Amino acid sequence: MEISLRNQIAIVTGASSGIGTGIAKSLASAGATVIVNHSSERSTDDAKAVVKEITDAGGKGITYQCDVSKEDQVVKMFQDVVAEFGTVDILVNNAGIQKDAKFTEMTLDQWNAVIGVNLTGQFLCAREAIKEFLRRGIDPSRSVACGKIIHISSVHEVIPWAGHANYAASKGAIRMLMQTLAQEYGADKIRVNSICPGAIQTPINTNAWSTQEAMNSLLTLIPYNRIGQPQDIGNLAVFLASDASDYITGASIFIDGGMTTFESFSTGG
Ligand code: BGC
Repeated sequence: MEISLRNQIAIVTGASSGIGTGIAKSLASAGATVIVNHSSERSTDDAKAVVKEITDAGGKGITYQCDVSKEDQVVKMFQDVVAEFGTVDILVNNAGIQKDAKFTEMTLDQWNAVIGVNLTGQFLCAREAIKEFLRRGIDPSRSVACGKIIHISSVHEVIPWAGHANYAASKGAIRMLMQTLAQEYGADKIRVNSICPGAIQTPINTNAWSTQEAMNSLLTLIPYNRIGQPQDIGNLAVFLASDASDYITGASIFIDGGMTTFESFSTGG
């Protein structure tokens, strides 16, 4: 089975760090030209470093700053990418944040910030991507599908998470967004799926792995007994973006070392 994303243009949001970086590098190594999106001036150097890694390895990519929670910026990003590269084939809706708080202390700003990036951002990017997929139509020299969207969700689309109500609510909603889009655009040959990562070693969850004690406690939640790496997610993203997964749409794929088997039930219940 050959897995190639040659001739395809991929936008990966939030690609200047963490899981997004892993996905951007994996898509580029499979042959896609990758738009390494980052949200702010502050993350420019990190995004440039990702593109350098991609080009040093023989791949193609550019950086693009855009806050995915802002409609005008998302519309402009898609216009600019289409103007420069002709179209977009793959969207990886990865940008995501946490603003954790006990529920009774959660501010409206914390709620809105998380919903704004994690959910509204995925809506805006998916809408612009689908418009572009439909404008271009199917081009068999690129892919048998008209376009592919991969939402980065979380195990918290099904595992409730005390102290993180805004985050868990955003991820639960992504499931229905993803499935609705898969249903609405299936006949147009647009594939829409979610990747649901468990604990992946990135800056978003440093406090879960940066001390031995924290790591030991984390591992009690993971039957496979290791923390995940961005590359684990990158491998799955390449498969889901490629024609090798052409019959997969409307699926949430959990990649979590078994976290969703609820290991705490292994000796009780
Ligand atoms: C969160 C991480 C967390 C993991 C498992 C992810 O979606 O962003 O902070 O470690 O879920 O709980």
